[in-house]
Amino acid sequence: MRNEPTDVAVLLRTEHAVARVLASAQGEDDAHPRLLAAIGEALAWNFGALWTPTDARGSALRCAHTWVSGAAVAAFAETSRSVTLAAGTGLPGEVWQTGRPAWIADAAEHPRSLPRSHAADAAGLRSAFAFPVRGAGEVLAVMEFFAATRAAPDEELLATVTSLGSQIGQFVGRCRAEQDVRESDARKTAILNAAFDCIVTMDGEGNIVEVNAATERTFGYNAEEMVGRELAELMIPPGKLRDDHRRGLRLYMDTGASRIVGHPVELTAMRADGSTFPVELAVTRPDLPGPALFCGYLRDVTERRRAERALQGMAEEQAALRRVATAVAAEVEPERLFGLIAEEVGRALDAGIGNILRYSGDGTALVMGVWSEGAGTIPVGTTLDLDGDTIAPTIWRTHRPARYDSLEGKTGALADQLRSTGIKAAVGAPVIFGGDLWGAVIISSDDAPFPPEAEFRVGDFADLAAQAIANAQARKELAASRVRIVEASDAERRRLERNLHDGAQQRLVATSLAVRMAARRVTDNPALRTMLDGAGDELTLALEELRELARGLHPAVLSDHGLCAAIEAVADRAPVPVTVDVPVGERLPETIEAAAYFVVCEALTNVAKYAHASEARVRVERSDGHAQVEVVDDGVGGADESGGSGLRGLADRVEALGGRLVVTSPAGQGTTVRAQLPVC
Ligand SMILES: Nc1ncnc2c1ncn2[C@@H]1O[C@H](COP(=O)(O)OP(=O)(O)OP(=O)(O)O)[C@@H](O)[C@H]1O
Ligand SMILES: [Mg+2]
Repeated sequence: MRNEPTDVAVLLRTEHAVARVLASAQGEDDAHPRLLAAIGEALAWNFGALWTPTDARGSALRCAHTWVSGAAVAAFAETSRSVTLAAGTGLPGEVWQTGRPAWIADAAEHPRSLPRSHAADAAGLRSAFAFPVRGAGEVLAVMEFFAATRAAPDEELLATVTSLGSQIGQFVGRCRAEQDVRESDARKTAILNAAFDCIVTMDGEGNIVEVNAATERTFGYNAEEMVGRELAELMIPPGKLRDDHRRGLRLYMDTGASRIVGHPVELTAMRADGSTFPVELAVTRPDLPGPALFCGYLRDVTERRRAERALQGMAEEQAALRRVATAVAAEVEPERLFGLIAEEVGRALDAGIGNILRYSGDGTALVMGVWSEGAGTIPVGTTLDLDGDTIAPTIWRTHRPARYDSLEGKTGALADQLRSTGIKAAVGAPVIFGGDLWGAVIISSDDAPFPPEAEFRVGDFADLAAQAIANAQARKELAASRVRIVEASDAERRRLERNLHDGAQQRLVATSLAVRMAARRVTDNPALRTMLDGAGDELTLALEELRELARGLHPAVLSDHGLCAAIEAVADRAPVPVTVDVPVGERLPETIEAAAYFVVCEALTNVAKYAHASEARVRVERSDGHAQVEVVDDGVGGADESGGSGLRGLADRVEALGGRLVVTSPAGQGTTVRAQLPVC
């Protein structure tokens, strides 16, 4: 039995050995085996073990590390590792429960049963001590040592190791705190990396402190390349945006004022390869002690912008189709309409050029409408030979939509012509009118190919073009048939007038002469003479009426002496004074002269019937390829085209000739009837 206390030098050596281990250990797992060895070797004991709780409640302990000196105790180490000691059981359990060091002078003679006494005995181990490893107020673990010699309790040694237990406990506490920080950092990094947004932390100087994985992916740098660099230089395009960022940060650091901190904005960001893209940026300043830190949350909104643009594009295309449809319905002249369609389809599909062609049936096509945004193009009126395999010849052959994404390999003079204008891609759709191929609507670009569904979209415009052509055709046919009607009825009037003049009128004149002569020969029968004179007068009246009738049908004076003479004759018969201002000697086409004459007749008849006028004025003048006919009175006004058939008939006649009739007749302010007739 060793009774003398351990040498102070040994205790000191032990303390130094422990201090060295603690100074150099990398963590708990590295420190514990080395501490057991350092203490065991310094004290020259034979076995050491570290006991740690099995669970958070600390209801039991297990042996986490052992140290052995000599092969004899290896089995004891094995036993120790295999047992679990409840709190209060065995030497480590007792120390764990009391929180105080303990000493066993001889395990074999210990008053309480010890779970490992047999194994200790077998290993020749006799004395033991254990001490708590104590961190911030709680026991974290228990360290125990066994010796093969019997040793009386050594208070000095116990005091020393208890103090070492506290140092070790502090070290363990520090390791665990560091571990906690590492784990929470790892958790934070995992969360940040899982985030869809780019998260960039920046210091008050504008330098990047931390980035997440999304930032690496989006900007094309890895984290090491970004951390420590200036955010503005890496992520913001040079120029105004970058300068604004630097100025804004300086201002915020000086005054705390910012347009961006706390206010999400949309900006342009720059990738590692220099390309730019739109981002939505929200910046916060976390309320943390120490120097200022800013967290930027950036979201790449390229896709969202693209979707927005696509939506807007569709809306614009709808609007373009509506505008064309309105123009078609408004019966805009085809020539103007073709230009409009070319422009609307070109703009709607983002093409540099829009064209409408008409196939001529002889292997050529005529350019009917053109729109171009600056690019060189083939002008309206050009005749194109339909050779090769560009869009116009392809549609001509197939009657189906066509496209090319590059002119490469395209043959024919047309392809060469298009190449010279810089065109790269084109899409076209046929204009089918009345079941036949009429022409094509084609868009071209000197840039990228058109999207896959462009054929259908151009097809919508082509359908509107077909409708416009159908309308124009119907209008033309209607106008032609009205002209035919007017011409036929005028011819009929002339024939009737001629028949009356040459036939019935001549006979009546002859009969009237015969009756007058017969009357003169009756000298002896006054009753008969009176009858014959009466018959002669009736015949004269009939002749007058017939002449009047013939004049209304078609005045011979108009054919024989012209418009001025015919109008003057009508004016002479009017009940109010009429001023006539009509050029003399100048002849207009027959149908135009007739229309002008009937306008004046009807207007002056109306003056006589309704106007209560004191005078009227008739003027005919020629200007700008038109004849203007104007009849003005100073009567009561209020003429209404729907009131009778006269003015409506005039309008029909004038419009059939491609002209226009306008009646202006405010109540109490006279009436103006104005006809404008085209003279070709
Ligand atoms: N110069 C005028 N001053 C005042 N009222 C007029 C004048 N001209 C026409 N009107 C009014 O306008 C209506 C329509 O005229 P319109 O010539 O179309 O028909 P109408 O003379 O009544 O019949 P129709 O010409 O077929 O014999 C007339 O009924 C009359 O009330
Ligand atoms: Mg009338």
